[in-house]
Amino acid sequence: MPAPAALITGGTSGIGKATAELLHERGYRVMVTGQNPETLEIARKELPGDVVVFQADARSVPDAERVADEVRTRFGSLDTLFLNAGITRPAPVEAVDEATFDELFNINAKGQFFTLQKTLPLLAEGASVIFTVGIGVTRGLAGNSVTAASRGALLAMVPSLAVELAPRRIRVNAVSPGAIETPIWAKSGMPPEMLEQFAESVATRVPFGRFGTAREVAEVVAFLASDAAGYVTGQDIAVGGGSGIGA
Ligand SMILES: NC(=O)c1ccc[n+]([C@@H]2O[C@H](COP(=O)([O-])OP(=O)(O)OC[C@H]3O[C@@H](n4cnc5c(N)ncnc54)[C@H](OP(=O)(O)O)[C@@H]3O)[C@@H](O)[C@H]2O)c1
Repeated sequence: MPAPAALITGGTSGIGKATAELLHERGYRVMVTGQNPETLEIARKELPGDVVVFQADARSVPDAERVADEVRTRFGSLDTLFLNAGITRPAPVEAVDEATFDELFNINAKGQFFTLQKTLPLLAEGASVIFTVGIGVTRGLAGNSVTAASRGALLAMVPSLAVELAPRRIRVNAVSPGAIETPIWAKSGMPPEMLEQFAESVATRVPFGRFGTAREVAEVVAFLASDAAGYVTGQDIAVGGGSGIGA
């Protein structure tokens, strides 16, 4: 039997890259996507040589078709689909322009949906689909309204997709990172003093008192991908060091 095959969108950095490394260690054939030429180059250097690194923009439906074609050519079928590409753009209501609103929804929500649609014919019976959502979707955080809404759209899809795909024994779940130390913060557009405040608030707000690591999220994704989670579908697992559980 061939090794299981996994596609990870946004697999060139942070959580996606850590998941690519972990699944590869566990014997998967892995393909990752990203769009930034510099990050793609770094991923090609740092990921194991047989991980396929493929340029595709999550905003583009034709790119989602190209991704599906590449998966078909490379792997034939897919056992794990980790829909993880995404951005964050913290801003108060007054500062959100239309372009930012559209970019958040196009990358975080539309891109994931159409990648699922185009790869659906390739998903094997018993395959696992995992969306990256985020604990900020269900907790109040000033400046996070549009980012949270764009990721919340994914969370809203999970139960319906889980029911729709259950006849094919395809499981659909979400993983919700809390504050995870990845390059996303440097790219967020937050000024340095706001980033500093955010880091300080993690020390006091999060019961574990620290950022999580990308590997800690990857471990949960690998569990959801595995047969050990064979009866788990339609769920969202938080990886947030206890964020939001206090009185
Ligand atoms: N880190 C956290 O604390 C946290 C918390 C909650 C949710 N999340 C979510 O977790 C996911 C992974 O984030 P991360 O923290 O690992 O951030 P990251 O290191 O910035 O990784 C994001 C990945 O998404 C890709 N991506 C972004 N825009 C894309 C586009 N238009 N087309 C294709 N790929 C694109 C990036 O590729 P390029 O470099 O090529 O753009 C990169 O591979 C994101 O969806 C994020 O919103 C993260």
